[in-house]
Amino acid sequence: MQILGIESSCDETAAAVVNQGRTILSSVVSSQIEVHRPYGGVVPELASRKHIEAIIPVVRQALGAAKMELQGLDGIAVTQGPGLVGSLLVGFSFAKAVAYALGIPWVGVNHLDGHINSVFLEPDPPAFPFVALLVSGGHTAVYHVRGHTRMELMGQTLDDAAGEAYDKVSKMLGLGYPGGSIIDRLAKKGSPDRITFPRSFLDKRQFDFSFSGIKTAVMRYIHTHQSQYQEQIPDILAGFQEAVVEVLTYKILRAAVEKRSDRIAVVGGVAANSRLREKVRQEAGRKGISVHIPSVSLCGDNAAMIAAAGYHLLKNGNRSDMNDDVYSKINIDA
Ligand code: KG4
Ligand code: ZN
Repeated sequence: MQILGIESSCDETAAAVVNQGRTILSSVVSSQIEVHRPYGGVVPELASRKHIEAIIPVVRQALGAAKMELQGLDGIAVTQGPGLVGSLLVGFSFAKAVAYALGIPWVGVNHLDGHINSVFLEPDPPAFPFVALLVSGGHTAVYHVRGHTRMELMGQTLDDAAGEAYDKVSKMLGLGYPGGSIIDRLAKKGSPDRITFPRSFLDKRQFDFSFSGIKTAVMRYIHTHQSQYQEQIPDILAGFQEAVVEVLTYKILRAAVEKRSDRIAVVGGVAANSRLREKVRQEAGRKGISVHIPSVSLCGDNAAMIAAAGYHLLKNGNRSDMNDDVYSKINIDA
């Protein structure tokens, strides 16, 4: 079963062809970073327009790279939400039209289900059930995953998402957008213990997060060290990153203990973070827990993960219809 995946929930227009929900035949991601960079964040109206320009060439490129024609597809999976409504509508309407024209089944996919399914595109995926940490620009949550699209929410951020905290700290220090990869790179030049920031664990037995406090602590540090903070940027970033990574690592390992699971997955844009990958592997290794983190190209938004999740929905008989619409917010608590 060859599924065309389409993703347009935020600032990436992506298309992919995936076989049996496991094998990527092609995966094309067209990023709008350059369009939004001058504004320091995604401008929704610009994002929708860019998706309209990109959607046809990106799908053509994905089909070409998979050496396929539209007629060879068995189904289409498209992100239905959560995300920016104007952006989602571009991919969703496109998928509707193409599926209708070809007379093939299509299904709307939850973007977060997509991220969780990114681990199944790697050679050694976890068996069910497992616990997953989803860390991105819009979400930070822990799930108990019982099936490809069956997951129970164990906790989530009460304020900023982890990626949002990275982006805001980067903006504060004038380092650019998006902040995650910039901070990841610069933090390597600093020491994580020279300037320390508070770790917000909230209730250590629960799986909720809060990242707005650390963001404010960084801001306060900058204000009280106006004359010297410029030279300390690598240390500030390393200290900030260590605090975030320590909390994320603690919570996902604690979730594994709570669910008596010896398998954890870390997914989403922030799962590309080199320190998070290292720390989770270190700590889990000590406890004999296996760690599943997708390769960096599958951490950020992509359409292969949408095709992977959509494959299981379609296989189980789920279908969307022409009256279905996109949604901006939802939990995947099933
Ligand atoms: O999953 P994603 O591409 O989009 C959402 O669904 O939000 O995640 C984007 C987020 C951004 O906040 C970005 O700064 C962050 O992931 N990110 C990183 C890294 N690469 C991307 N954060 C930390 N370290 C990275 N290497
Ligand atoms: Zn995402």
